[in-house]
Amino acid sequence: MSHIDYDERIPNNVDLGHDRRLKRALEKWQPAYLDWWRSVGPQVFMDREVYLRTAISTDAGGWANFGYVKMPDYRWGIFLDDRDDARVIPGGDYAGQPVWQEVPGEHRNVLKRIIVIQADTEPASVEQQRYLAATAPSLYDARNLLQVNVEEGRHLWAMVYLLHAYFGRDGRDEADELLARRAGDADKPRILDAFNQPCTDWLTFHCFTCFTDRDGKYQLGALAESAFDPLSRTCRFMLTEEAHHLFVGESGLERIIRRSAQLSRTAPNGDPRAVGGIDLPTIQKYINYWFAYSLDLFGSEVSTNAADYFASGLKGRWRESQDYTDHGALGQQRTVAHVENGALVDRAVPLRKAMNESLRQDYASDCQRVVRRWNKALSDEGLDVQVSLPSTRFFRRQGIYADHHFDPAGELIDQATWDAAWLPTDSDRAYVQSLMKPVLEIGKFANYIAPPKRGIHGQPVDFEYVRTDG
Ligand SMILES: [Fe+2]
Ligand SMILES: [Fe+2]
Repeated sequence: MSHIDYDERIPNNVDLGHDRRLKRALEKWQPAYLDWWRSVGPQVFMDREVYLRTAISTDAGGWANFGYVKMPDYRWGIFLDDRDDARVIPGGDYAGQPVWQEVPGEHRNVLKRIIVIQADTEPASVEQQRYLAATAPSLYDARNLLQVNVEEGRHLWAMVYLLHAYFGRDGRDEADELLARRAGDADKPRILDAFNQPCTDWLTFHCFTCFTDRDGKYQLGALAESAFDPLSRTCRFMLTEEAHHLFVGESGLERIIRRSAQLSRTAPNGDPRAVGGIDLPTIQKYINYWFAYSLDLFGSEVSTNAADYFASGLKGRWRESQDYTDHGALGQQRTVAHVENGALVDRAVPLRKAMNESLRQDYASDCQRVVRRWNKALSDEGLDVQVSLPSTRFFRRQGIYADHHFDPAGELIDQATWDAAWLPTDSDRAYVQSLMKPVLEIGKFANYIAPPKRGIHGQPVDFEYVRTDG
């Protein structure tokens, strides 16, 4: 089952050949997808040979094949983790009962909406990043970007399969709409705000893959605990691919931070900007911006929808099946700070209503771990300054903090105290943009980013990750 059939026009491990209607419908969607890819997918190196991995099985070890591929020839397909017939509903009111192989009528619309919202982020990020390769700091980085892009395309396939296979006509319409919306478009924008933000520089790209793709990891983690088994199996395999995206962001920012530290030692006045690097205060502002934008994606701190999703088993907590013994989450509370009469006051919220906040805090702890790694890099380079995450209340545009101002430490402040320089200013953005010149010689790196410690899949750092001879 975990073997992927590459003889089919649409590679898959879901036995697509035995469902002719579904196969026909997806084969109709396939050319529309390829049109979308050509028109708003990567606009640089479109037909170059790129050293990419392709899934060949869903087994834990050795699932990927590495080789040169021209992106339009990438074999996008439908890959789900194996079915476990003993799997039970992990959490909520029906915990312990058999999982669903079909969509229960009463949950149909909500489940479809959940899948569409997740699905919409996948093509959105490809669109946001479509010109980035033109300013790649190295062939290694260009390759990582394009790997992320083809896999986000694959994730779109994963979600479209669910829509086509389980939601009939409505599902097919939604699949078409996924190719019609556009990141940042005034008339037909992508659903979530972070996925309409421009991504035109590599500091932003690495923040995005570190913080926004990591949001994806946690959303997929909650859906991997779903009672709807095909969704769970889909998300589990997506998480395997997602790990590389997070690596790209985390290590990419570490390399920019490390380079910043190195340049601050050699630059006149200790300012990396004097020698074409990015100073830590600027990096900190980008971290503030993207961490805050990504926090919004978890939804409101107190949410009856979140409680309903948990109760009915549509979503679980992060690692619900592994890390919890009480899967009901009833009779428990979570403390959430609320603004009341101009002050922050702790309020106890029924745990089920605080599920978004629980997932957000799991995410924030994971981000803290990443920041500790960056600070280790700074101390390795002999610097005693650090970068940090702002409070989860800082610069929020969704949820219970959105109508108030907070400083990066999370203290409630008035509007006059708000300092726009906590976020990237126009001049910061212009400076970062001015550094975006392509470096496409094999083994060479732009001055603002340190080379990685090792290459991809055992290849050397100075490997020809993108074939430069056309
Ligand atoms: Fe994705
Ligand atoms: Fe991703």
